[in-house]
Amino acid sequence: MPQELLKKAFAQFEKNFGSAPAVQTFAPGRVEILGNHTDYNQGLVLGVAIDRFTVVVGRPVPGTTATIFANAFDQTDAIDLSESSIDTGPEGDWRRYTRGVIWALRSQLPTIQGFEAVVMGNVPLGAGLSSSASLQVALGLFLQKLHGQSIENDEARMALAKRLRKAENGFVGLASGLLDFVTVLFGRKGDAVFLDCQNLNVQRVRLGQNPPAIVVMDTSTSRRLADGMYNIRRSECERIVDHFRKLKSVSEVTSLRDITPEELSANWKYLDPVGRLRARHVLLENQRVMDGVAALNSGDLAALGLLVSRSHKSSMTDFQNSSEALDTLVGSALTAPGCLGAKLSGAGWAGCVVALVEPDLVDQFTRSCAAGYRKKTGLEAEIYVAYSAGCSDA
Ligand code: GLA
Repeated sequence: MPQELLKKAFAQFEKNFGSAPAVQTFAPGRVEILGNHTDYNQGLVLGVAIDRFTVVVGRPVPGTTATIFANAFDQTDAIDLSESSIDTGPEGDWRRYTRGVIWALRSQLPTIQGFEAVVMGNVPLGAGLSSSASLQVALGLFLQKLHGQSIENDEARMALAKRLRKAENGFVGLASGLLDFVTVLFGRKGDAVFLDCQNLNVQRVRLGQNPPAIVVMDTSTSRRLADGMYNIRRSECERIVDHFRKLKSVSEVTSLRDITPEELSANWKYLDPVGRLRARHVLLENQRVMDGVAALNSGDLAALGLLVSRSHKSSMTDFQNSSEALDTLVGSALTAPGCLGAKLSGAGWAGCVVALVEPDLVDQFTRSCAAGYRKKTGLEAEIYVAYSAGCSDA
């Protein structure tokens, strides 16, 4: 439970709105262990929700206005809930996410009660740890709680994840998959979350008695997701799906998941030269997720780490969603003491590296990485150990 953050949010609420909040919710950020850009390709993902959080505190008020104060931006948004349409606001702005949640929950809560709320978080923004899903889930849980609803089972968790994804796709304008929402909603202390995006089966996989330390290393570079690269990658993957759709019957091929690595190799020379690299990344990444789950289940952390590093290599060469800063930090990690494996986390192009490290060697690892990265780039990487966590309805 993010006690400190909640305390600060309570104080901020009292300052802004004059009395104590009545409802509080929180949701974690997440790291992507394996399964990079596989989710919207109906593939497999393995993520861990981590102890960086967004909290929402607030109370119902008479009337139809939602007033939300975002501490990170020192800005307030007021939304008239009686209006049938909600303006998206400018691209990349925090309001697009919060308004999107309201938009998404309208089908579940036809009349949303007026409310006042403060949003506060410590998930770094735009760093690949899914600060946006953390915010959206925390606010989604808040709206449900405000109307006397809570998440009672995994079915309800999945229903909320799907609604929030719909908002991110249809309202925010990012063609993302379910990885972030599902990891944030299903994550728990001690568990990784394994999701099959084709049949939406979710399994929680124990991180084990002697789990690896999950070290998050921020390159101190950031990017905006809705700025194009992400959606371009998605269409590059779809080009390959189209090719196979023409070969097989349409009903057989709906996504890259319906194509085997052997079929991809056999058709290699006929395929779009960019799309086939993206597809190879996705198909082999699915295999890495399966192998990674098996490695976790058998406690083979060395094997898991190797898969993580291979995933990054594939991001560099095939999916081309890495950056010089990310590659340099992964390079520093791989030569540091205790490193089992390292890769970029999330969409890519900037943000964080996640490394799995032998717990006894974390201090040496951290010192060595920070020094290596500083020497090569002149930049300071923010490095910390993250612990698995869950949301307020976990
Ligand atoms: C972002 C998206 C996710 C997923 C990852 C890449 O975090 O929001 O849906 O596609 O990138 O794996």
